[in-house]
Amino acid sequence: MEQMTVGIIGTGGIAHAHMRAYQQMPDVRIVGAADIVPGKARAFLDEFGLKDVPAFESKEELLALKPECVSVCTYNSTHAECAIAALEAGCDVLCEKPMSVTLAQAVDMARAQVRTGHILTIGFQPRYDPNMMMVKDIVRSGELGHIYYIQTGGGRRRGIPGPTFLSRETAGVGCLADIGCYGLDMALNSIGYRKPITVSAYSADYFGKNPKYCKNADIFSVDDFAVALIRFEDGLVMDFRMSWAMHMDTMGDTLFLGTEGGLKVKSPHPELNWGGAWDGTIGDVYLYHDMCGETVCTQVPLKPNENDRFYRKVRAFVDAARAHGPSPIPWQEIIYNQAIIDGIFRSSQLGREVEIDIPEIN
Ligand SMILES: NC(=O)c1ccc[n+]([C@@H]2O[C@H](COP(=O)([O-])OP(=O)(O)OC[C@H]3O[C@@H](n4cnc5c(N)ncnc54)[C@H](O)[C@@H]3O)[C@@H](O)[C@H]2O)c1
Repeated sequence: MEQMTVGIIGTGGIAHAHMRAYQQMPDVRIVGAADIVPGKARAFLDEFGLKDVPAFESKEELLALKPECVSVCTYNSTHAECAIAALEAGCDVLCEKPMSVTLAQAVDMARAQVRTGHILTIGFQPRYDPNMMMVKDIVRSGELGHIYYIQTGGGRRRGIPGPTFLSRETAGVGCLADIGCYGLDMALNSIGYRKPITVSAYSADYFGKNPKYCKNADIFSVDDFAVALIRFEDGLVMDFRMSWAMHMDTMGDTLFLGTEGGLKVKSPHPELNWGGAWDGTIGDVYLYHDMCGETVCTQVPLKPNENDRFYRKVRAFVDAARAHGPSPIPWQEIIYNQAIIDGIFRSSQLGREVEIDIPEIN
């Protein structure tokens, strides 16, 4: 089988997971990597035994090689410019989550995808967790009746990440997008993405700005805590909660309330300081329903979780590129995720409810 050519933009932490996945694929050949930090892309390629593969300090030099596939593994604030440049250079693109910082950037990315016709997929590896898939199957089965309320829970007790996640310049937004996008995707992918119309939110930065809790407090300029009430076009209401740091083990479970049943998805590991985010797996799952006039709670058995979500995410991208589509996790879904993040940010800044207005994309 002919090998697909692949380039990687941004060679920090998550690029390693992409590279590990690509290196397991005989039908893929890495043709280059780029990072704006001098020497970083070279060291990255060397680490993976790719001493003959060229390293660059700009995406433009890498894109001049015209790789068929590009992973965008840069920090949030440069996702849009890198993904758009790659699409316009003729590449299919796997962009890390969150899609971008602002809704306007996400719209630009979506327009670039439409203009070029190449694949744009956003890297939500929890989609490939068998238990996340099971939650989606239960929610979509109709067993819960009409779903009118969702609470996204989770959150970390102590889980403020590294420096590029902490400033407006590189990250753009804090926990609300970094791990909040996972909670949103879990909920919205389960019910089928719907159009959000308003958001009323609050965010805080008490832990990030305090050197007692954050060793990079001097550069901290994003949120470490965010809550919001989101209304959707069809009347659905979502209660969003997320935290990188707090004096609590979890902001709660994820709940789907329907007219015929309710589903509780517990946080994966609230006992661990870092364990309560929805970035990979889930905790126990309970179905609440009535049976013969009695109120019943059934624990849903979890499936063995043996597959490598990161590999499957990258493999799904390469398969889509080979087949010329469709995108495994398309912007048509994730633009709503980003619109909510954008709305939470704006509402928190303004201290009042805001409307979400997603422009026409064609
Ligand atoms: N899917 C996951 O589980 C997961 C896990 C961690 C991070 N991420 C996401 O991946 C992204 C990167 O996270 P990370 O931990 O690897 O961060 P990082 O800071 O370790 O790496 C980002 C790299 O991108 C480089 N970069 C930034 N702008 C660039 C540009 N224009 N051109 C070339 N290089 C550029 C930086 O110099 C840096 O080396 C973030 O958006 C984050 O949300 C996803």
